[in-house]
Amino acid sequence: MTLGSQDLERLDQLFCSMQDANACFLGYPFAKDFKYEPLWRFLKFTGNNLGDPFEPGTYRVNSHAFEREVVDFFAQLFRAPDRGFWGYITNGGTEGNIYGLYLGRERYPDGVAYFSRDSHYSVSKAVRLLRLEYAVVDSQSHGEINYDDLARKASGGRNRPALIVANIGTTMKEGRDDTSRIRAVLRDVGVREIYIHADAALCGPYAPILSPKPPFDFEDGVDSVTISGHKFLGAPMPCGVIIARKSNVQRVLRAIDYIGSSDTTLSGSRNAYTPIVLWYAIRCLGIVGIKRMFDQCERLAAYTCDELNARGVGAWRNPYALTVVFPPVEEAIKAKWQIATQDVSHVVVTPGTTKDQLDTLIEAIADTGR
Ligand SMILES: Cc1ncc(COP(=O)(O)O)c(C=O)c1O
Repeated sequence: MTLGSQDLERLDQLFCSMQDANACFLGYPFAKDFKYEPLWRFLKFTGNNLGDPFEPGTYRVNSHAFEREVVDFFAQLFRAPDRGFWGYITNGGTEGNIYGLYLGRERYPDGVAYFSRDSHYSVSKAVRLLRLEYAVVDSQSHGEINYDDLARKASGGRNRPALIVANIGTTMKEGRDDTSRIRAVLRDVGVREIYIHADAALCGPYAPILSPKPPFDFEDGVDSVTISGHKFLGAPMPCGVIIARKSNVQRVLRAIDYIGSSDTTLSGSRNAYTPIVLWYAIRCLGIVGIKRMFDQCERLAAYTCDELNARGVGAWRNPYALTVVFPPVEEAIKAKWQIATQDVSHVVVTPGTTKDQLDTLIEAIADTGR
């Protein structure tokens, strides 16, 4: 396979434009500064992790062994029951949310889904895909679910099981729902059967080390947790992790002769490269490295918030959040820095975000107000 010179030139142009865009995005929670060069050699294989990572299969050009180690790492981090958990590497947080709600629906086929208005759009996609009855619950101004509204909405369906998607870091404000309080509210209104899926897309890797730790893991009573791998840890392509209770996964399992394994995952063919990337990240970092990276990002987030406020821009952030929220920025700033904007704008200080980038943005935002 060889390319003509025009096509080669187009590739070079695409590379330059992606490189330029990569140098100035601040509005999406994607880590920037990762170095996975030792893993590039794996790209020459048709790696495919099809099948269940915990079972041998016919196709062996896979990274199941590394995938299992990543799953084990997050299962421990999320205090999953010993030998009572299962998981796999997904294409990202969206797949994790669909999978979590799928397990919930199979556990409680007549369940009603509840999630807050501030949930990621993948959650409403999941309930539509799964044809779940659902209610959208109001949020508080800082992004956390409104427990009174949850009580109101759930009391209407008190005779039906509740399938909850709890946000452990909402997309725009990094608001965190309290899964213990959600459970208490549901019990108080008479809901007896509850499945809780925690969407910890960004915060999953660092939420367990926060003090106080937000209640969102298996010992806090959740049934599945998902994270995105490319958000905090960083990856050159989207990926995520889902951890779930094994008993719920066994309900959806089908044995497939064609692959010589069980079909437990959402996709058939699955990426074999991203499990190696995530394995590499957690082996290099460990918990200590994750904490160090979080502390650096948090210091910069606090700095950004303070500097914007000092210039008269009403910025704020949730406790221990890497997301700094401020009034919507104007189009030119939004376009240049790729700032996600709804009713508010935000910056997410992920690993690899530099003080120089933030200073330039802070000045640009302050200038528009002058
Ligand atoms: C809270 C939350 N959940 C889920 C997702 C979806 O994750 P992904 O883009 O990895 O599919 C996002 C993405 O921003 C998110 O912020």
